[in-house]
Amino acid sequence: MTRRPRLLRGDRMLTRRGATWLDNRLGGARFLRTALGKVFPDHWSFMIGEIALYSFVVLVLTGTYLTFFFDASTRTVTYSGSYAPLRGVEMTEAYRSALDLSFDVRAGLVMRQIHHWAALLFLAAIVVHLMRVFFTGAFRRPRELNWMVGVTLLILSIFNGFAGYSLLDDQLSGTGLRIAYSITLSIPLAGTWLASLLFGGEFPGPDILSRLYVIHILLIPAAIVALLGVHLALVVRQKHTQFAGPGRREDNVVGERVWPSFAFKSIGLMFLTAGVLAAMGGLAQINPIWLYGPFEPAEVSAASQPDWYMGWLDGALRLWPGWELRAFGYEVPAPFFPAVLLAGVTFALLYLWPFLEAHRTGDREPHHLLDRPRDRPVRTALGVATVSFYAVLTASAASDVTATTFQVSVNAVLRAFRAAAIVLPVLSGIVTVRLCRELQARDVARGLPVPRPVEPPKRSRDRSRGQARPEATPVD
Ligand code: HEM
Repeated sequence: MTRRPRLLRGDRMLTRRGATWLDNRLGGARFLRTALGKVFPDHWSFMIGEIALYSFVVLVLTGTYLTFFFDASTRTVTYSGSYAPLRGVEMTEAYRSALDLSFDVRAGLVMRQIHHWAALLFLAAIVVHLMRVFFTGAFRRPRELNWMVGVTLLILSIFNGFAGYSLLDDQLSGTGLRIAYSITLSIPLAGTWLASLLFGGEFPGPDILSRLYVIHILLIPAAIVALLGVHLALVVRQKHTQFAGPGRREDNVVGERVWPSFAFKSIGLMFLTAGVLAAMGGLAQINPIWLYGPFEPAEVSAASQPDWYMGWLDGALRLWPGWELRAFGYEVPAPFFPAVLLAGVTFALLYLWPFLEAHRTGDREPHHLLDRPRDRPVRTALGVATVSFYAVLTASAASDVTATTFQVSVNAVLRAFRAAAIVLPVLSGIVTVRLCRELQARDVARGLPVPRPVEPPKRSRDRSRGQARPEATPVD
């Protein structure tokens, strides 16, 4: 038997004594032992939520760096920094400080770019994570509440992304804010009051940047942190779902213990996410505000496009035929329908989906084993149809660029996108149902387990809480 080196034994003693000292004062050892001993099921698709989490960590770190140098003031100054083409141009303090961050602050540009790429990845990961949860039925009882927490996180994240890129007061961000102002105005009865309250007066308003700044760096991030705490605590409390497989049942969890294997994999994923974002921030240009110039309310540049997660709203505004309602001396202006009503219906349906599906199928049983998309052809088809509808809307946000690239009339492009927004969801839904049924038939032909039919409503005791499910280490 080999003896441990003296130094290492000493180190271990020191660590143990340190841990005991802390535990005597804080008493967290039992909690930590239970948490680290938890079993987490393994599947690549469960990493998508973690990518969202780690992108958020990168957002907070890079955002903190940016706050040391950014000044969200609308005071007019004359630019005299390093970027020669804009020297002598009048602009707001906000735009000047963003230019200084890009050209004169050490590591400012790379931090700005990492921050922006992280925001795009954060939202992409959230949307893909939502799709994973939707298509596998992970939102079903008992996880409806966590689904709703997730939808709130999505809304907050979209809003914070918009607030962030609106702060810089360049021509592109000003154009976005003008659209937001018009959408607010379109709300019946309350619109003009709301717009004036939010912007501090008529557009562009003296207060909007300073207000958005507080919202962007404090209020929404704090709300996201709090809700993320709830979200992850619910995952631990209710335990993670798992795909069907050897030894996996509704009443157990098969996977790896959090410590050490899951923790090390997850920390690795964190460094990978941060590394990829750092490389993108260093190598790929994003939002070159110096090319757009300071915001001039009288100008709107062509090919103005928002970040990808706002594209569906921009596209919906472009596709809406301009219909509006006038009755009893009141008017509901055109932007209300694609921007306020569509967004409202979208998020209301998302919030309600677990309950709508349970009501439709009568399945109110707790589920800890996941569906494969083919197991539920109707849900999968509805999901694919919805994704294709929003994809068409997003593509429509580039209607002017499409028209100039292909040298066709912008009206023809809009008409084509309008048709696609109706036809594509229907077509993709039908094809998806057929594909699912085809895959099911192939499974039957291969002698694989037949998909479980949706169970009829049954009265049973709720076995949904975590304690009811013993954990097991991998059996395969
Ligand atoms: C800030 C955004 C979000 C972050 C950082 C996040 C993070 C996570 C993580 C790390 C997990 C465990 C691993 C996994 O299943 O991927 C998880 C689970 C879950 N998330 Fe999210 N999530 C976010 C947004 C959402 C959204 C938008 C929804 C749906 C509307 C959602 C619904 C769920 C549900 C239902 C679970 C439990 C899944 C299961 O047990 O299979 N989350 N989330």
